[in-house]
Amino acid sequence: MSELSVDHLLGIKYLTKEDVDLIFETADHFKEVINRPIKKVPSLRDITIANLFFENSTRTRLSFELAEKRLSADVINFSAASSSVKKGETLIDTVNNILSMKVDMVVMRHPNPGAGVFLSKHVDAKIINAGDGAHEHPTQALLDSYSIRERLGEVGGKKIVIVGDILHSRVALSNIFALKLQGAEVKVCGPKTLIPKYIDKLGVQVETNLKKALKWCDVANMLRVQNERMEISYFPSTREYTQQFGLNKGLLDSLDKEIVIMHPGPINRGVEITSDVADSDQAIILDQVQNGVAVRMAVIYLLASKIKR
Ligand code: NCD
Repeated sequence: MSELSVDHLLGIKYLTKEDVDLIFETADHFKEVINRPIKKVPSLRDITIANLFFENSTRTRLSFELAEKRLSADVINFSAASSSVKKGETLIDTVNNILSMKVDMVVMRHPNPGAGVFLSKHVDAKIINAGDGAHEHPTQALLDSYSIRERLGEVGGKKIVIVGDILHSRVALSNIFALKLQGAEVKVCGPKTLIPKYIDKLGVQVETNLKKALKWCDVANMLRVQNERMEISYFPSTREYTQQFGLNKGLLDSLDKEIVIMHPGPINRGVEITSDVADSDQAIILDQVQNGVAVRMAVIYLLASKIKR
């Protein structure tokens, strides 16, 4: 197969296992490209991409922009804070104005779940969801699985625990879909209040004891508590959260095996993970960031190849 089954990347739940394999094979090629002295290919010289960020981002925005530039696409950037959205313009009007400047692809981060799906139905451009509220963050899950595959050889059959704020995390949901699709075993671990009630319907088990979860897994993906998405308190205090669900060196060293540690960033050092763990050889946090560029190049390249010209 040399084509994706989808026209947009709106969520992992729309992808097939073959799509994921194709993205990873393509990313392998681009990873080799970005390690060359000349890190650029001319593949998308005739393509224009708009990065529309209606929510804060550091890694994801820079990673997409770099991926686009390394494919030689023309890039325009938009962030809601400095735009006419503040003057009352609707999402469709904002995007149609941008598209009238002959934009082929839109990478969008938006606080509303489903914003990407909505846009894909109303505008004539390829859409990549760069995070829609607490819903999905597909490129993050793809780069996470790609990084597991790189470190452990494959994702299928591996045991992954996702630790922290599962309820508010788009990284958790997209990772669950991606890992299950590839045949991994998935558990989640965190305060009961931060685990969604429908979790078993996703084929995922819950383990509320962090040490037991770590003993079971090959990989632990440590998530940030999404305080900005909380209107009420979900646990008594940050100190208590850290005591029960924070990963520290003592806990890691008490296991009789070496597990792989992941984090999507931004890290709250000393809350969900201590600095000595985040900076240790077991952590692949910076590999994840590096792989993000190659994986996003692959997604953009594969979607661009479906543009009718
Ligand atoms: C995450 C996000 O924004 O969803 N970060 C990222 O994209 N790497 C996770 C987070 O904010 O905790």
